[in-house]
Amino acid sequence: MGFLRTRFPLSLNISFHARFCEQIRRNYRKSSRYFSSGQTEPFFVTTPIFYVNAEPHIGHMYTAVIADSSARFHRLIGNSVTFSTGTDEHGLKIQQAALHANEEPGRFCDHVSGLFKTAFKNCEISYTDYIRTTESRHKENVHSFWEILSEKGYIYKGKYEGWYCTADEAFVAEDQTMLVKLPNGQEQRVSTESNRPVEWFSEENYLFELSKLREKLRHWLKSGPVIRPLRHYNLVKSWLDQELIDLSISRPRARLSWGIPVPGDSSQTIYVWLDALLNYMTVAKHSQSKMNIWPPSVHVIGKDILKFHSIYWPAFLLAAGLEPPKSLLVHGHWLVDDQKMSKTTGNVVSPQSCINLVTATGLRYFLMHEGVPASDGNFSMKRMVRIANSDLADGIGNLVSRCCGKSLNPLQTRLGVSPSSFESCGTPGSDLLSLLERTPDIVHDEYQKWNFYKGIDQVMALVRGANGFFQTMEPWKLKKEGQLDQLNATMAVTLETARVVGTLLQPIVPSYSERLLDKLGVPQENRSWDFARLRWTTTETALGSQQAVLFPRIKFD
Ligand code: MSP
Repeated sequence: MGFLRTRFPLSLNISFHARFCEQIRRNYRKSSRYFSSGQTEPFFVTTPIFYVNAEPHIGHMYTAVIADSSARFHRLIGNSVTFSTGTDEHGLKIQQAALHANEEPGRFCDHVSGLFKTAFKNCEISYTDYIRTTESRHKENVHSFWEILSEKGYIYKGKYEGWYCTADEAFVAEDQTMLVKLPNGQEQRVSTESNRPVEWFSEENYLFELSKLREKLRHWLKSGPVIRPLRHYNLVKSWLDQELIDLSISRPRARLSWGIPVPGDSSQTIYVWLDALLNYMTVAKHSQSKMNIWPPSVHVIGKDILKFHSIYWPAFLLAAGLEPPKSLLVHGHWLVDDQKMSKTTGNVVSPQSCINLVTATGLRYFLMHEGVPASDGNFSMKRMVRIANSDLADGIGNLVSRCCGKSLNPLQTRLGVSPSSFESCGTPGSDLLSLLERTPDIVHDEYQKWNFYKGIDQVMALVRGANGFFQTMEPWKLKKEGQLDQLNATMAVTLETARVVGTLLQPIVPSYSERLLDKLGVPQENRSWDFARLRWTTTETALGSQQAVLFPRIKFD
């Protein structure tokens, strides 16, 4: 099925032609700025490591999917990606959870860490390293880091007196606590930030001279937009306007046995947050390029752990003479029916229950479409199903089945596309062309800025544009009337748009995009970001033999 010249009147043809040529030249100049130069840059992205006191929920999965989409995007643009995730297994919280489960802590951690690993696999999280803080490579790193801090004079032994919140594994200043009345009438002191109980500790331990690092931290903060969104940057700035108090970095072993002992003083256990934060460095040390990937490009974190990552972590690194992370991406939390997820409320949503209903594709799409880093999201199964159905089954699904259906595409090929394909479709072709030319650049910018939801919106606008174009062109009529040139052009343009859509969505819904690109017969080597834009070609490609149904509609009452 070759291409025939358009049958539009000549005068119309000339003006369209001139406009098209100019539009194409303009768009090519614009779009070439983003496509890979062939040089690879290291990109090191991390999720927090997850506490193993409870099973994975959708909030955890959100952090992981954001980091994963970003890792996949950077791979597509040609960067070499290190992507780490894993589990945080030491500390009082885990010690107590193991005791509560009547299990030896090691076995307890193996079990829950395994659940996280499975959940990540089922959700298509493409990490390159899964770190557990109970591994010996990590213990070695924590020991050597402690020794560096000690040699540099940042550690001293002292008395710590104050409030401690085990649920947050955090020391809490007196003015950050309040008394609340429990249902049984008793009073309980809680952390104002997390609303979780605090206890009074008075003990001998090692302290870290955080107070010495305020200026260096301020300098780091001023070095660029290191914390996004801006709201969180400003919050950290305000913390640094206040005095910093030295931080207790160990606990007596008698109180906390489940952790890494202080080198040279086995009567003390290293504070779990110092231990946990160092996971990022353990990963770097054990990556293929060793510490050459340092500093991390971005730590993806939830808003509740901002202080640990924006004050303590860079302070530890600066004290040790290492570079702090290049950036932190802070996201909001998922609520369920506007309430915090908690075991006591009984509203914890497991990722697997969502995957069972809408598959990993549906869950990932929903989280990235609905999740706006700057605010909290409200989770609802009903909404998840509705969005997956309308965008994945109807919007994109229709587009693909229309152009791959046997009645309009009897030879089952993806036709080559040229400027004349758009030209011969008149104004609808010209409108779709400009959308198609614009979209990849915008999506690139939005993904780069972590605005995945905005990138997805752009892709969906393109899908709507292509479906509208198809509807307007009425190819079934063109076929009936024997207008083969316009029929070919309509099919070619629609298939090309579907190819671009599939390429652009790879970071968000990898297996769905893979099915789409397989169906369109796109070779593996033609799926990088360089191929995300419109490509002129005269070659015809055979469609894949698999079903055109990419995402079966889901019924949910
Ligand atoms: N172990 C620490 C992190 C140490 S990193 C050096 C921890 N673990 S956590 O399991 O409690 O949380 C892991 C991540 O999940 C955090 O980024 C946290 O913000 C995120 N979330 C936990 N609940 C969440 C929601 N309800 N919604 C979105 N993210 C949530 O903190």
